[in-house]
Amino acid sequence: MRLKQPKFYVLSFLTTITSITRVSSQTFNCTAELQTVNSQSDLDELSNCGTLSGSLSLGRDIVNATINGIQTIRGAFRIPYGAKVQRVEAPDLAFIGGIMHLNGALNLTFLNMPSLANVGSIRFEDLPRLRTLGFGSQVGSLNDEFTSIQLVVWDTAIESLKDIIYQKIETVQINENPNLMDINLPIKNITGVFAVRENGEGTKVSLPYLESAGYVSMGAAVGEVNLPNLTWVETSVVISSRSLKTLEFPNLVNIGKERVSTNTRQASLEISRSPNLTEISFPKLEYIMSDLRINGSEKWAHLKGFPVLETVARDIVINGSFTDIDLPKLRAGDRASTFWINSPEVDCTDLIGRPTFKDGDWWTNITCNGRAFDLSPNDPVREGGEKSLSGGAIGGIVVGVIAAIGVALVVVFVCFRRKGYTHSLPWNRSELPKIPG
Ligand SMILES: *[C@@H]1O[C@H](CO)[C@@H](O)[C@H](O)[C@H]1NC(C)=O
Ligand SMILES: *[C@@H]1O[C@H](CO)[C@@H](O)[C@H](O)[C@H]1NC(C)=O
Ligand SMILES: *[C@@H]1O[C@H](CO)[C@@H](O)[C@H](O)[C@H]1NC(C)=O
Ligand SMILES: *[C@@H]1O[C@H](CO)[C@@H](O)[C@H](O)[C@H]1NC(C)=O
Ligand SMILES: *[C@@H]1O[C@H](CO)[C@@H](O)[C@H](O)[C@H]1NC(C)=O
Ligand SMILES: *[C@@H]1O[C@H](CO)[C@@H](O)[C@H](O)[C@H]1NC(C)=O
Ligand SMILES: *[C@@H]1O[C@H](CO)[C@@H](O)[C@H](O)[C@H]1NC(C)=O
Ligand SMILES: *[C@@H]1O[C@H](CO)[C@@H](O)[C@H](O)[C@H]1NC(C)=O
Ligand SMILES: *[C@@H]1O[C@H](CO)[C@@H](O)[C@H](O)[C@H]1NC(C)=O
Repeated sequence: MRLKQPKFYVLSFLTTITSITRVSSQTFNCTAELQTVNSQSDLDELSNCGTLSGSLSLGRDIVNATINGIQTIRGAFRIPYGAKVQRVEAPDLAFIGGIMHLNGALNLTFLNMPSLANVGSIRFEDLPRLRTLGFGSQVGSLNDEFTSIQLVVWDTAIESLKDIIYQKIETVQINENPNLMDINLPIKNITGVFAVRENGEGTKVSLPYLESAGYVSMGAAVGEVNLPNLTWVETSVVISSRSLKTLEFPNLVNIGKERVSTNTRQASLEISRSPNLTEISFPKLEYIMSDLRINGSEKWAHLKGFPVLETVARDIVINGSFTDIDLPKLRAGDRASTFWINSPEVDCTDLIGRPTFKDGDWWTNITCNGRAFDLSPNDPVREGGEKSLSGGAIGGIVVGVIAAIGVALVVVFVCFRRKGYTHSLPWNRSELPKIPG
């Protein structure tokens, strides 16, 4: 869904220069909330402004824009939806304090900002002809302490993000860029959403320094995930990609923030819609605050890769064609949680007879292929009535998978919007990232 005419661009027409201060023979500091330029001659008039204290917005009618002289834009640099612009050059521009927001310049093919080094946030969207970022060198944020609000690259022809060197950021969304095969970013910390989907088929996602993230979603067309240093995810990890064959999170210890029941956020591990995935590995994962939900495929036979997973505080829902399910260190769940397995080839009696279940203090009933196993303490393992789940019940549980993801997303978004977006642009993509089909 594209927002064709965002209301806030009305502001673009309120152009005022409130003061100009002379600082040297050629360079001025130009003060204005917002400059909107509609022609090259408007731009040429600003060429004595070394520093713009406010924002710069290209009007919709300018086709080729050369921004000479301006080195610093303290506010935002924007190209609004529907702009006719084809080429933008800014040879001197080194610093954009606010967001660089290029939105819906459908004919923009050439961007060249060889001096650019610092940008507060980057949002490039609906730029179907733009193949390169046009940065001549590495672009990052002001300093190591600064947390950028967003890096969003959505629906562009961009082929590489290699010049972006942000380290701390709230939101990273890289979606629907068909030419992008490699996403390799030096980010250490993503406090909010990190979502990738529908880029080049088999996209390699590599964030070798990433230590923590708010929410991780690897969606359709992601073929490789390399997050070797990721140890902690605050809310959920959601995986669904037809291109993934194996998946490894070598250092992930914890999904969910704290082991306290008052935290009502969802923090789950969800794996679904990955028809080629046959091997997963979470060698250090010990704790999942909410649910473990896995919907496998015909190809995926052994569900293993959780050698130290001890706690899944709420539900475990496993559906698929697994012949074996191995959760060797799992301890009893909460009284209110659900443990549901639907995988016809699993030998339920053998599974329930394993030490995990025999030795644990299980309050949760386990439903395995329609049979209910009552593992209440002080009782030997006992098989309950042959409670085969109705289609409706199965549907309900499976729908729960989706609902849980939705809830998690809403929570994440509400939280991060409240925190982050008050001082930036309105969130102008109305839909939340969905789990891709
Ligand atoms: C102009 O801006 C520069 C930094 O961009 C600043 O150091 C300088 O003090 C400003 N000069 C005036 C007169 O405002
Ligand atoms: C814009 O630049 C392109 C390429 O240099 C040129 O072909 C085109 O005529 C220019 N258009 C305008 C309106 O200046
Ligand atoms: C983009 O260019 C095409 C011709 O190549 C033109 O028909 C169309 O109006 C242009 N769109 C904009 C928004 O300038
Ligand atoms: C990453 O962010 C979290 C949460 O804001 C913070 O606790 C942690 O210290 C940060 N880590 C680094 C390496 O900046
Ligand atoms: C991984 O994180 C640790 C700190 O938690 C750091 O010392 C180490 O250098 C990081 N490794 C990489 C490859 O970033
Ligand atoms: C993944 O599996 C599907 C069948 O479900 C197949 O059509 C497709 O080619 C596979 N994709 C890759 C990238 O292996
Ligand atoms: C689980 O995967 C199967 C295909 O293997 C699919 O038909 C079904 O819709 C999936 N269920 C959910 C809830 O994603
Ligand atoms: C469970 O998994 C099997 C095999 O992958 C699939 O065919 C079926 O549609 C799934 N059931 C649900 C309810 O998602
Ligand atoms: C577990 O199953 C038994 C027998 O089917 C039933 O009496 C008991 O209430 C169930 N416990 C829970 C927590 O669902």
